[in-house]
Amino acid sequence: MRRSSLVVVANRLPLDDNVAPDGACEWRRSPGGLAGALHAILEQTPATWVGWAGDLGQARDLPDIGTLRLRPVWLSEEEQRGYYEGFANSTLWPLYHDAVEQPVFDRGWWETYRAVNRRFAEAAAEVAEPGATVWVQDYHLQLVPQLIRELRPDVRIGFFLHVPFPPPELFMQLPRRVELLRGMLGADLVGFQRPQAAHNVAQLAAKLLDAHGADDAITLDGRLVRTGAFPVSIDVAEMRSLSARPYVVNQARQLRHDLGAHKRVLLSVDRLDYTKGIEHRLTAYSELLRDGRVKVRDAVMVQVAVPSRERVESYRGLRDRIEREVGRINGEYGRVGEPAIHYLNQPFDRADLAALYQTADVMVVTPLRDGMNLVAKEFVAARPDDSGALVLSEFAGAAAEMEDAFLVNPHDVDGLKETLLQALAAAPEDLATRMKAMRAHITSNDIHAWARAYLSALEDSKALRPVS
Ligand code: ADP
Ligand code: F6P
Repeated sequence: MRRSSLVVVANRLPLDDNVAPDGACEWRRSPGGLAGALHAILEQTPATWVGWAGDLGQARDLPDIGTLRLRPVWLSEEEQRGYYEGFANSTLWPLYHDAVEQPVFDRGWWETYRAVNRRFAEAAAEVAEPGATVWVQDYHLQLVPQLIRELRPDVRIGFFLHVPFPPPELFMQLPRRVELLRGMLGADLVGFQRPQAAHNVAQLAAKLLDAHGADDAITLDGRLVRTGAFPVSIDVAEMRSLSARPYVVNQARQLRHDLGAHKRVLLSVDRLDYTKGIEHRLTAYSELLRDGRVKVRDAVMVQVAVPSRERVESYRGLRDRIEREVGRINGEYGRVGEPAIHYLNQPFDRADLAALYQTADVMVVTPLRDGMNLVAKEFVAARPDDSGALVLSEFAGAAAEMEDAFLVNPHDVDGLKETLLQALAAAPEDLATRMKAMRAHITSNDIHAWARAYLSALEDSKALRPVS
């Protein structure tokens, strides 16, 4: 068994669906923030990634990706239903996102979630060398830090939550709240996107676990757990160099031509998820068309909505509603050869995404709740000429860092309409000032800075002792 000094544990392995016949394997860059963020920092670091092999079937020996080893965890069909589709994505996901969709509590799912978390912990314990750093990711694996601590007290354990951590009154609804909190606090350092999350956890730890402490450290069972905000980011240099590629520049030019050279383009790029606010956005755009404040001959909306969690009922229902609504809007306001909205329910590779970002006059990122939202940062990185407007939800973690965006409350459809018009009408100098400020921020706070900040805080955490 090969062991590593750095072990990342995440729900999915970041590899392509197809391992080539010669065994070659490529980064999957799945449409989701986690794999994309970690891809940038792990590609050249000796490490092992423990994760679910997804659609890769029963292939036992997965090839290394550069210096990264892959340690697959196998899930049966029943486990996928109970752990991934059930407890992770029908209980925790909606609850952690302000319950914008009703969370489902199913006792059977909990047992499966616990068993699968144990399997991930055992796999991590097996591949970690003595004194290693084990970095556990996200809400799927919230019990793993404590389980690893029991199996391997010698290792340093980090946990990072990519999604929001809810306010105490919502977390308190969870039937297994004590186990979930204790599981996560098994880490030496628990990282969040926003400082408010650490505050929520400190309050809950005092209430449910009789722990004491503050927003940056909690003493639990005589052990010190550090907590803090580490806003995740993107590989800015990668997006910038992609954007300069001749293929991308030509592709962007072609897209503009295809969409109508004189038209203003409003673009949204999301996983097809009810947290992303797609329906509210469609309502706002449709009302602007209805009221004649935006005309199909002058503007076009492009909504990319990549399929996600398609076996979960609430996602299927959402897709049906969105597709009906896009059909209705195009039916009512479109003209021959001129749809009001282009709807693309498909994955794109990075270069085509970069071209899309370059095509937009207004990038519309309006989730109802989002841990961070990397699409907003990618858009800014893809526009080195400082053109374009970013309309950004106040409820995305990114809003705290990108105050120069056109910030909006997506629940307020009238406010959303006004903000879209304001962004469409903004002067180029105003947009350039905003984009410069946002780009400066993400350039000095890129994914490498995030990993450095988190891993050095984790390193320091071992030296700390509980305050008596
Ligand atoms: P989440 O993690 O909830 O999906 P983020 O905005 O943080 O949301 O991350 C989404 C990631 O998925 C981004 O890196 C984005 O480029 C990528 N992505 C979004 N839509 C697509 C698509 N259609 N094809 C490929 N990648 C996509
Ligand atoms: O950030 C939230 C998250 O669940 C990530 O862990 C993942 O990268 C992304 O959303 C996509 O979700 P899924 O793995 O369910 O397709």
